[in-house]
Amino acid sequence: MRFLYFNIDDTDNRILEALRSKLHSHTIEQWPQCEDLSQIDAAIVWKPPIDFFNGLDNLRAIFSVSAGVDHLLNHPHLPTNTSLVRLTDAGMAQPMAEYVLYGVLHAQRRMNEMAQAQRERVWRHEIKPYLAEDFRVGILGAGELGQIAARRLLANGYAVSCWSRTAKELTDIEHYAGVEGLKAMLASVQALVCLLPLTKETTGIIDEQLLSGLPSGAFIINPGRGDHVNDNALLSALDSGHISGALLDVFQTEPLPSEHAYWQHPNVIITPHVAANTSLKHAVEQIAEGVEALEQGKTPRGLVSFEHGY
Ligand code: NDP
Ligand code: OXD
Repeated sequence: MRFLYFNIDDTDNRILEALRSKLHSHTIEQWPQCEDLSQIDAAIVWKPPIDFFNGLDNLRAIFSVSAGVDHLLNHPHLPTNTSLVRLTDAGMAQPMAEYVLYGVLHAQRRMNEMAQAQRERVWRHEIKPYLAEDFRVGILGAGELGQIAARRLLANGYAVSCWSRTAKELTDIEHYAGVEGLKAMLASVQALVCLLPLTKETTGIIDEQLLSGLPSGAFIINPGRGDHVNDNALLSALDSGHISGALLDVFQTEPLPSEHAYWQHPNVIITPHVAANTSLKHAVEQIAEGVEALEQGKTPRGLVSFEHGY
């Protein structure tokens, strides 16, 4: 097969070289250098530019070097008569679970209040951490990443609830689905984690209404996508104290603009979209498996549903 590659983050071509080595019987060209675009069978991409798909008239498959595919589904020229394949876990689930655990520990141990007391040089012995078993974490999304994060939290003694589109039975986890399910879950959680894909239905889901459904003092952890959050709603809930703090990895504009209010907020922790970096080894292996599956006429793991948008 002939592939066309573009990855905005692969500045030293490490992923490209690893893909060329793994898929050595195929040809991988790097956009924009490509002699005959009509000969390209498949694309391997992360955040392709606006004109990436121009001239790719015989494209059959698109491999995303990421778990989320919103960067492709929102691309104005995405060819939809192709198989779109994403990374599933591919070494990201464990680092993501660590990120979530870090945020939950921060909230449960009341570290924002501890940090404030330290800034004021006050010995606030009355700030008592919550017990993990009494601290319920709600996870929006019970997919590849959400379920592993949930298991890590359970292993650390937390009570865990998950919410997803379809109903599921998950051992030791309270599971909710649908709009009514979401409302019910929110009422009992002290920390809320967003591990949803960004779709039409989930855009702006963390809004004023959702935040007001959380108990006072709840903490937000968002390694999903920046567009899941209505920033003004979150900032006012933080300012009023209804939301005690937030750990945010993803933003509507990345890099987060220097004038954004999140940078200055004492109860917001910012990380620069590094909750779970793509693992070179796992990503390359999974793409190679996907290529093999397509060549054999099988369904590759991580095939995206255009209907559901993830
Ligand atoms: P999956 O597709 O495996 O899981 C998505 C989950 O969200 C599923 O449980 C799905 O429900 C649920 N869901 C989707 N739509 C809805 C809806 N409308 N209502 C309720 N639940 C819904 O995705 P992953 O776990 O692999 O990844 C999740 C996201 O994490 C990615 O899309 C990406 O945005 C983000 N991510 C961020 C990274 C970072 O470094 N910050 C790294 C990697 C990913 P159901 O089970 O019923 O299908
Ligand atoms: C992903 C990401 O979706 O890195 O893989 O955000």
